[in-house]
Amino acid sequence: MNIQSIICTFWLLPILGLVQAFQQNPKDDFPFSTVIDILSENVEFSTFLRVIQKTGHVQYLNELQNFTLFAPVNSAFAKDDRITQQFEEHFHIENFLMHNRVLEVKELKNGTYLEKRAAKAPLLLKKYERHCFVNDIAIVDPDLQPSFQNASVQGINNILLIPPKINELLVQLNKETQDLNVFNDFLTSFSNYNAYTNLSTILIPLDVNFRESFNTIEINYLTDKYKKMGKSNAISQDKWIADRTSLIQELVIDEVHGGILPNELILKNKNNRHLLIKSNTEGTALSVNESDFSCISNKIFEIGIAHGFSDLDFLRTHIHFDAEKYLHGLNCSEFVKELYFRDLEKFIQNDKKTTIFVPQASFNEDRGYTKPSLLYHFVEDRIDLEEEFSLLRQNQYVTTQIYDSAFCSSAKRLGGHCQKFKITRSNKGYYINGRFKILNTKPYEIGNTYIYSIDDDLQLPGDLVLSLPPQDHCSISLMLLKDLDLLDLPSNHKGYTILLPCMNSWSNNDLTIDYLRSNETALNFLMKNLIFEDLIYSNNYSISTTVKNLYGNSVSIEIEEVMGSQNLTKISVSNINESIFVEENSDVFFNQGVVHPINQLNLPVGLEISLKELIETTGTKEIFEFFNLFHDLSSIIRNKEEYSILVPTASSIPLSGITVNSTDLRIFLELHLIPANQTQNLLDCNGVINTKSGKQLACRKDYLNNVFISIEDDDWGKEVRILKRGCTSSSNRSCVFLIDKPISLSWLDSEKYHLHLPGIAVGFGMIIGVTLAISLLFCIIITRGGKVKHNSDERRVEQATTPLIQSSPIIRNPSYSATAHVSPLSQPSFEGSYSGNATQRPRDIRKLGSEQSGNRSVSHS
Ligand SMILES: *[C@@H]1O[C@H](CO)[C@@H](O)[C@H](O)[C@H]1NC(C)=O
Ligand SMILES: *[C@@H]1O[C@H](CO)[C@@H](O)[C@H](O)[C@H]1NC(C)=O
Ligand SMILES: *[C@@H]1O[C@H](CO)[C@@H](O)[C@H](O)[C@H]1NC(C)=O
Ligand SMILES: *[C@@H]1O[C@H](CO)[C@@H](O)[C@H](O)[C@H]1NC(C)=O
Ligand SMILES: *[C@@H]1O[C@H](CO)[C@@H](O)[C@H](O)[C@H]1NC(C)=O
Ligand SMILES: *[C@@H]1O[C@H](CO)[C@@H](O)[C@H](O)[C@H]1NC(C)=O
Ligand SMILES: *[C@@H]1O[C@H](CO)[C@@H](O)[C@H](O)[C@H]1NC(C)=O
Ligand SMILES: *[C@@H]1O[C@H](CO)[C@@H](O)[C@H](O)[C@H]1NC(C)=O
Ligand SMILES: *[C@@H]1O[C@H](CO)[C@@H](O)[C@H](O)[C@H]1NC(C)=O
Ligand SMILES: *[C@@H]1O[C@H](CO)[C@@H](O)[C@H](O)[C@H]1NC(C)=O
Ligand SMILES: *[C@@H]1O[C@H](CO)[C@@H](O)[C@H](O)[C@H]1NC(C)=O
Repeated sequence: MNIQSIICTFWLLPILGLVQAFQQNPKDDFPFSTVIDILSENVEFSTFLRVIQKTGHVQYLNELQNFTLFAPVNSAFAKDDRITQQFEEHFHIENFLMHNRVLEVKELKNGTYLEKRAAKAPLLLKKYERHCFVNDIAIVDPDLQPSFQNASVQGINNILLIPPKINELLVQLNKETQDLNVFNDFLTSFSNYNAYTNLSTILIPLDVNFRESFNTIEINYLTDKYKKMGKSNAISQDKWIADRTSLIQELVIDEVHGGILPNELILKNKNNRHLLIKSNTEGTALSVNESDFSCISNKIFEIGIAHGFSDLDFLRTHIHFDAEKYLHGLNCSEFVKELYFRDLEKFIQNDKKTTIFVPQASFNEDRGYTKPSLLYHFVEDRIDLEEEFSLLRQNQYVTTQIYDSAFCSSAKRLGGHCQKFKITRSNKGYYINGRFKILNTKPYEIGNTYIYSIDDDLQLPGDLVLSLPPQDHCSISLMLLKDLDLLDLPSNHKGYTILLPCMNSWSNNDLTIDYLRSNETALNFLMKNLIFEDLIYSNNYSISTTVKNLYGNSVSIEIEEVMGSQNLTKISVSNINESIFVEENSDVFFNQGVVHPINQLNLPVGLEISLKELIETTGTKEIFEFFNLFHDLSSIIRNKEEYSILVPTASSIPLSGITVNSTDLRIFLELHLIPANQTQNLLDCNGVINTKSGKQLACRKDYLNNVFISIEDDDWGKEVRILKRGCTSSSNRSCVFLIDKPISLSWLDSEKYHLHLPGIAVGFGMIIGVTLAISLLFCIIITRGGKVKHNSDERRVEQATTPLIQSSPIIRNPSYSATAHVSPLSQPSFEGSYSGNATQRPRDIRKLGSEQSGNRSVSHS
């Protein structure tokens, strides 16, 4: 009856146009009213009612008892037609219903209440000074109660939207607060997070809470910042899943709780741990296990409620971190994978003292580590760089330290000793083996493990050639070792120590190199005496040990700290006369041991290199002939070592006109002999250099470090160039200097030696010179086209005049430099840059010169 009449009325109303009638007191007309009655009686609900009718919920509502209906008033739809349309399409009556509760706003006390009786998501009711809100939507028309149903209708001024999904809620809250980034990342790293959040209360730690509980690395790990956990080793992955599941379960309560709560509410989280939850009196915030009250409270999502906290103190309690997890947090999951692959994972799981140098993740993911190369990234001790390098030694900070790596299993090559590496501090930072930069000077610390990030994979020291740093300039020694086939040493189950002449060792010894290369017996003796079959490091002071050298002899070696020096170590070898000094920790490691690059050439006892051998090496055989003419002089080059000798190149001898028949041969030879106590001056190119002849020589270096000698006080320009040097084995006082041409006697005392020259020759020479110059001038004037030809003529004249008056400022005559052997390793010097056929031309000129001078004078001028 009543229902029928309502329906009837409803259908009649639009037709009769009696809408106005309902604005009179409806209750008077219909004593047995229902919720639908209320909706139809109040024109402000017309849109909502139409939707209810269209979606066929009239009967459902009529038959329902004990409920509250939240009904949006028309103005909620007014803004946009589309809203209405969408609303209709997605309409679900349950979203507007609260069952088993007849809400009476006027009865409600001040406060916030979580109402669970809604069909799906909970509803949040807020009452404050007669204003009431449901999910933050104002109730504008409260407490409309039908007489025939136990229910109430609450007119609300906006559409009651379905609450956002949890992830949407988090994004939205994060936009507002910028304080949920970590939790957001954390939650979304679960693909199935709904399983944890469904019908739950979520306790959200804000970023500050996360950062107080975990460091960045731990957060990266928990949130899988680098998205690599899914691809990592299964064991690693399982641990990670367990950790993050444990964390999220710590934060989830399986029921919705919010608003005003009963006193001392004890709940359990999903890990079954108790949580003591309290709300404040208004229910606007709550606290968990004595935390501060939540900063974000009572946020409803699709099927649950979330509260945000800044100081939950139990986040970390049940998560145990180790190096493995830290490596994941450092974007080094590939490295972890490699460790598992090589069965080395114990290094990142145990709690022994360990330092790890882990390569920064790079684009090069497929690195192909071997077990030894992986082990080389570990040290079985804790290395605190800042502490280690703050040590003072001789009032200087230590700049280099040597450490044992964890690669200790190479019995064949290193006799089971651990391969070492060194760390050097420079103003650019810390470097391993001079190549690999350590990116953090403070280690990441977890348990007993220190982790340093480095810029690339550590390379286990390779063979000798690859291990020596280019700046040590060891190439000559390496070449000599190669000549002897000693670059690959046989496995000796002990390792090797090599004292390798590097740096400037060979720089005053190019002639010695030539000699050694020409005499394999000598070279073999030298190099094998510098290689020892044991591992001796420069920082292992006060050891005195007997080892075998590669030549087969037992020698004793002593390592001492040089007191008063900053970082020098003295190495004394029993069969090497001089002590060897190296910088402490300048050791270079290679796969078979250690190299000490040394800056001096020390010959072992028993290796004799005499002047004779060095002179032979120059290839200037005439020198012996010349010296043999004079008994006293010949002994000088045979055995005594009282002099150094300047030896002109073999090819320059015929050009100079000097023969066994030259009258001035003796003084010529004496001019080329330098007393032993003057040699150092010449080696240093410093000061005046006396010769046996009594004449003094001067020395200069050009900007390319070419060394020239000339007669002291003579005009600039009359000089010869030193091409090579080599000293005898007994001392650095008796050396051979290969010069590009003889020092001309004509430079000496112009009066004395000039008198030998017939004036006519000089005159004739001048006439020829002038004639040539004039005719050249003519040529230039007359023919302008044949420029090339004239130029060559010009050069010819220049060359022609050079030997005549001996005034070439720098040696530009190619023939003078045709030395027999040029060390392939020496810098491209001027002799190498001239072609061999250049020797032709000057020969003609020499003929011209001797014709003119017409005598047997040593020099021609
Ligand atoms: C409404 O609530 C009353 C009292 O709690 C109860 O007796 C009645 O069965 C309820 N009616 C329905 C339809 O649930
Ligand atoms: C109306 O519903 C409420 C809530 O379910 C209930 O407590 C109350 O007893 C009901 N009243 C009647 C008269 O059924
Ligand atoms: C509700 O709060 C308002 C403002 O704080 C206060 O005036 C009013 O007395 C409170 N009502 C109740 C029932 O506590
Ligand atoms: C949430 O839980 C309810 C009841 O346990 C279930 O019916 C529903 O499918 C769940 N939703 C999700 C997204 O897991
Ligand atoms: C909360 O505190 C209670 C009592 O102190 C404690 O038993 C419980 O373990 C705590 N909950 C968590 C998750 O740590
Ligand atoms: C993490 O490592 C990968 C390579 O494994 C690299 O491509 C990526 O850039 C790294 N991420 C960061 C933030 O360094
Ligand atoms: C080569 O060197 C050995 C060892 O020093 C020496 O005995 C020998 O005389 C040298 N031979 C020549 C040709 O110089
Ligand atoms: C020094 O050498 C001795 C003997 O070879 C060895 O036992 C010791 O471990 C070495 N010390 C260092 C620091 O290398
Ligand atoms: C030795 O000390 C000098 C001067 O302080 C320094 O330049 C050099 O790098 C040090 N060498 C090593 C190997 O530490
Ligand atoms: C030196 O003089 C002798 C005799 O006069 C002669 O036989 C010899 O060929 C000359 N040697 C040179 C190199 O001119
Ligand atoms: C060099 O030695 C000679 C004797 O061989 C001596 O007369 C001279 O004084 C010494 N010169 C210097 C600078 O020692």
